Amino acid sequence: MAETKSLIPPAAAPHVLIFPIPAQGHINSMLKLAELLCLSGINVTFVNTQQNHSRLLSFADVQSRFGQFPGFCFETIPDGVSASISSPEDLLTDLFDRLKNVIKPGFRELLTSNRLNSDARGPVSCIIADGVLGFAIDVAEDLGIPCISFRTISACCVWIFFCTQKLVENGDIPFKDEDMDRLITSVPEMESFLRCRDLPSLYRTKDVSSPSLDFVNTETLYSGRAAAHLINTFDDIEAPILSQLRSYWPYLYTIGPLNALLDNLRSRTSSLPVSSNASLYAEDRSCMSWLDRQPEKSVVYVSFGSIAMVSREQWFEIWYGLVNSSYRFLWVRRPDSLITKDDEESHIQAELVDATKERGYTVDWAPQEEVLNHPAVGGFFTHSGWNSTLESMVAGVPMVCWPYLGDQQINSRYVSEVWKIGLDMKDNCNRVTVENLIRDMMNDKREELMQSTGKIAKMARKSVSPDGSSDRNYEALLEFIRKSC
Ligand code: UDX
Repeated sequence: MAETKSLIPPAAAPHVLIFPIPAQGHINSMLKLAELLCLSGINVTFVNTQQNHSRLLSFADVQSRFGQFPGFCFETIPDGVSASISSPEDLLTDLFDRLKNVIKPGFRELLTSNRLNSDARGPVSCIIADGVLGFAIDVAEDLGIPCISFRTISACCVWIFFCTQKLVENGDIPFKDEDMDRLITSVPEMESFLRCRDLPSLYRTKDVSSPSLDFVNTETLYSGRAAAHLINTFDDIEAPILSQLRSYWPYLYTIGPLNALLDNLRSRTSSLPVSSNASLYAEDRSCMSWLDRQPEKSVVYVSFGSIAMVSREQWFEIWYGLVNSSYRFLWVRRPDSLITKDDEESHIQAELVDATKERGYTVDWAPQEEVLNHPAVGGFFTHSGWNSTLESMVAGVPMVCWPYLGDQQINSRYVSEVWKIGLDMKDNCNRVTVENLIRDMMNDKREELMQSTGKIAKMARKSVSPDGSSDRNYEALLEFIRKSC
């Protein structure tokens, strides 16, 4: 039975400022942390860039979700959004430029001007900033308050970033195209399975002093100055890596999977209905009634997250692969991926259209967590973004992984080689491979995949249940925050 607690923070409650980088995957998990803290009686200010904030308010139920917390408030800073981005490299370079030239000065101005001083909730007593926003540590130091660094990506990816210098010294990077399957031995704990192609996409450069690589290396080392570290993961799946990281970051709290921790805390502390939608896109819920009409475990859910861009050729290879597999599919076709509607409509073959009408359904954006937990969903064809990976683990749904950029390359390797809960399609997007891997996931290799998937889902739920590792770490985090105020 849920115990309904007052949602008004007690007098002299801490005031935490949360600051994600402006990307869906990061905003999503940091909003979950914000809601957790509100449920625990902490005042929270959530800083968004202007454009994302407007999108969030127009599409998501954040007003009703956060309106119930008197201690919660949004603040915005400028974002300097660029008009046209057409490749993953552009996307990252553009983000780094905006962080340096627009977002960094905007953040400092927000905290050092009078804007937050008249706040009835008292001054900000602690900052929780995205792990790659080192400038937030500087601002916190100037204000004499602690800054906690929050990594929204997997610990295995953070650990590779940590080892960048070693990778260069060992001559593991840069690597040539023909080296893609070469084993890399300079990352402790990964010597037996890490290939060049599994390194985060930033390492696919001929230039070891590239701005992207320099950015992650510098930021990872700089974040060592943070007072504590949070990672959205759980101890059971990344124990060896976490023990390496803990030797550098003694105050490291693993509090994932955040979606499951939040569900647990909600059910324990509040009986208010809460929406989980925190998307920068409008959700199309019509897919839920379509799923209701499909047989159990018959549907492959297909989604490549919020930033992946699919070329026209890849789009059709995926489409043919899905159709040729003969399985039912629910496909999220985000409106701002590269393919234009015109292109799509003028070139598609009747066979694809007919098969999609018969056993497929497409939406611009889906309520993903609900979809993954729907009884009709039997598999997930994913880009291996970390939130998607965790959500799939909690729901116990096996995956076919087609990583796109950033951490996704190493996530998909762990999914297939370490956790054995999915199949890695890595760099191999053609219709035959798509068809075969989907058949393997849904039928030929299903039994072995389901065994590991069930085991990991159980571990995930245990970690967030009372006295599980993430639950205990969350309590330790609260203690840390309360001490700092
Ligand atoms: C980005 C990076 O790409 C990813 O690699 C990193 O780990 C986090 O930041 P993104 O690409 O958006 O994130 O992927 P992911 O981490 O999987 O986050 C996507 C989020 O959007 C998930 O929480 C998912 O539930 C949600 N989503 C996705 C929807 O709600 N509906 C959809 O249709 C698709």
